[in-house]
Amino acid sequence: KGTKRKREHVDWAALRERAIALEPSRRSLPIYKGMEFKGYFEGSDDPLQRSSVYGCLHPPKSKRLSKDEVRPSNDSQRLKDRAKSLESFRKSLPIVSHLKEIRNALLEKDVIILVGETGSGKSTQVPQALVNEPWCKPQSVTISRDASPQTVRVGGCIAITEPRRVAATTLARRVAEEMGTPLGRYSPKSTVGYSVRFDQSTSPNTRIKYVTEGVLLQEMLGDPWLKAYSAILVDEVHERGVNVDLLLGFLKNIAAGKNEGRGGIPLKVVVMSATAEMEILRAFFEGYGREEGDGVHESRDVQRNGTDGLDNQDETESEWSGLSSSDEEDAVVVHGNGTANRVATCYIEGRQYPVTASYTPQPVQNIVEASLRIIFQIHRQQPMPGDVLVFFHGRQIIESLESLVKEYARDMGPELPKLLVLPLFAALSQAAQDQVFQPAPPNTRKIIIATNIAETSLTVPGVRFVIDSGKAKIKQFRTSIGMESLLAQPISQSSAIQRQGRAGREAPGQCYRLYTEADYHSMQTSNTPEILRCDLSHPILTMKAKGIDDIVNFPYVDSPPRIALEKAMLQLWLLGALTETGGISSIGLQIAKLPVTVCLGRTLIAAAESELNCVSEVIDIVSCLSVEDLFLNLTSEGKKTEAEAARREFYNREGDHLTLLTAIQAYAAENTDRKAWAKRHFISHRAMKAAIEVRKQLRAQCQQSGMLKPTHTQEPSALTPELTTSILKCFMKGFASKTARLCPDGSYKTMVGNQIVAIHPSSGLFGKKVEAILFNEFVFTSKSYAKGVSAVQLVWIDEVFQSAAPSASMKVLV
Ligand code: CDP
Repeated sequence: KGTKRKREHVDWAALRERAIALEPSRRSLPIYKGMEFKGYFEGSDDPLQRSSVYGCLHPPKSKRLSKDEVRPSNDSQRLKDRAKSLESFRKSLPIVSHLKEIRNALLEKDVIILVGETGSGKSTQVPQALVNEPWCKPQSVTISRDASPQTVRVGGCIAITEPRRVAATTLARRVAEEMGTPLGRYSPKSTVGYSVRFDQSTSPNTRIKYVTEGVLLQEMLGDPWLKAYSAILVDEVHERGVNVDLLLGFLKNIAAGKNEGRGGIPLKVVVMSATAEMEILRAFFEGYGREEGDGVHESRDVQRNGTDGLDNQDETESEWSGLSSSDEEDAVVVHGNGTANRVATCYIEGRQYPVTASYTPQPVQNIVEASLRIIFQIHRQQPMPGDVLVFFHGRQIIESLESLVKEYARDMGPELPKLLVLPLFAALSQAAQDQVFQPAPPNTRKIIIATNIAETSLTVPGVRFVIDSGKAKIKQFRTSIGMESLLAQPISQSSAIQRQGRAGREAPGQCYRLYTEADYHSMQTSNTPEILRCDLSHPILTMKAKGIDDIVNFPYVDSPPRIALEKAMLQLWLLGALTETGGISSIGLQIAKLPVTVCLGRTLIAAAESELNCVSEVIDIVSCLSVEDLFLNLTSEGKKTEAEAARREFYNREGDHLTLLTAIQAYAAENTDRKAWAKRHFISHRAMKAAIEVRKQLRAQCQQSGMLKPTHTQEPSALTPELTTSILKCFMKGFASKTARLCPDGSYKTMVGNQIVAIHPSSGLFGKKVEAILFNEFVFTSKSYAKGVSAVQLVWIDEVFQSAAPSASMKVLV
């Protein structure tokens, strides 16, 4: 003001565009994490205002806020304005005309099943519609415990469960915006928050909380009657992951227990699904199939047995005394008699623009090339705006398409808009996932390459074109070896329809299916529930930890085959997580409380017990194994050699576990430029950051439980032979069932199941011969591979198997 500067020299638009372009790299800087202004402008429509750049230039007025910060008034006005600007959009959502019906139904009934297409507003609007209902207020009740009455608070909060953390966090942010409240930890007054594994954003006043299914199951260990909640909204039930099936069973048990631990106050349950499994779910909650002898569960088991993807089908079928399908009608009579009429249903009609689907005339040999061609064809021929969403089946293939699109985009003429290529898969860091939901910068088309994470649980705005590879990685339990493998497999028709629908959210769209029409018709109509095809060790441990001893008669929506239950029991027992009589042991209880897999949990406990106390080192390795691959997978031979040379300093001849330890410790000790360090060593900076975050949380949790002494430093370890042996022996305790021995012909055979397995080319032990190996993961591509491999001694394996007594009594356990 008042100066005579020549303002025309300043190209504000270019500066602004440049600032926005720099935003993602700024956000990834370590210092960004601690900045208090993050979130203050998240409600803005303006990408610049939402950025940290703006936060730096325009910090909130009251900058120095204490931990219990109170939002300055101008921010609350900004939040209100943003909420107001979203109102008309919210009113246009298909669910709006049903909200009253939903509220009324829940005044009378305890369960409502909502079926409505993705995007109809279930996840965002239903919690807001219910949070002020009279039954949603916290209540004080007196409960008799050990003959002494106690007054406890029940309810007051709504939990919405999501299968994935990215859905939980983005939904929480969105609903906070819509309600004009800051998100979780940003203010003690915030009413909306989230809680996902290794990350939580809640306040003492949180009333709407988005959680992952796993987190709610963990919470139930301390609060089995879910006293903190008035209602649980179970979202995305159509995905039928194993956790959601468990959750449904537990919720049904709470109702069956007449809400005793809640002082009789009903827990309202809203089950939300994008596909019409309404009758199955209604039948499940109305209780038929619960009464012994009505046989309904069994009849469904037999129907599913043919498609559950398990080996040894013959073994399973002989165990079941299911009814023939005609018996199911009798069961429906039970239902018709109305044993319990406590379930309401509601169907929400969709709001979807037409999407034309095209097929390839011939099967596609190379889906990366085919997608690349279509992406550039769209980009040259189709008008803007209109982003492209590609569905692929895994990180590796996503990254190869990502680098090809970037490479070709560099050669595009200046007349074409720019391309912004964004991968999207579950293991991606939060900041990288967030980018997908930001609007594209001006004159730019987004190309999002995703796994089936974007199929139903996330709404990626701006998409008008979908390319569907027709594949997804599907978990499959192989009972013969007692291990799970992830296989790329054809998707189901219902998945194909969901993928197609992603192109029609905002305008008419197009879906390019990279398979023939005949292939489409040969696909399974719907997905097989995960509980019928996964390793049940973790689910069973969860049940046992919650005091459920009879795992066969647990109220499953679909009962898993008995052989899978037996294998899992055996595995848990081998880990020392179960007692001789099948109850949970103290080790089992400890494992259940740890936010890692059963095998990694057992390893951590072994480390805390070990003489050398190598828990700090084991936490480091477990953190690396809990995130996506740290070492970038390189395709070009030249790069491979370069990477091998750069990583040589981490390489440990005992195998990949210790290599990971050296790598994470070297990264943590780097205090100048970690990103450059990662690049230099061909290590994924994204994955390393995630591993460091997991490490922080695991250290905190292990310190809290006394497993890790506060005196344990995070200094790089001096890897003496004693320490190396000690670490590997801890892993033996957790992974005894994932071991293989060298055979005279040079192959490796698994100790359980006697299957031939080769060391994966990504392992440092690839091509080496050692007497025995333990491995982290079993993968099946062209053949069976062991991934994440270390050399062990046969005597160690014997020790672990011998310390678990013969399993004669195990047969009677299930
Ligand atoms: O749960 P459902 O799939 O039925 O819908 P929703 O998640 O409640 O989303 C309703 C609408 O809100 C979507 O169509 C999106 O346009 C919008 N939304 C958004 O813009 N950002 C989010 N993080 C979530 C939803």
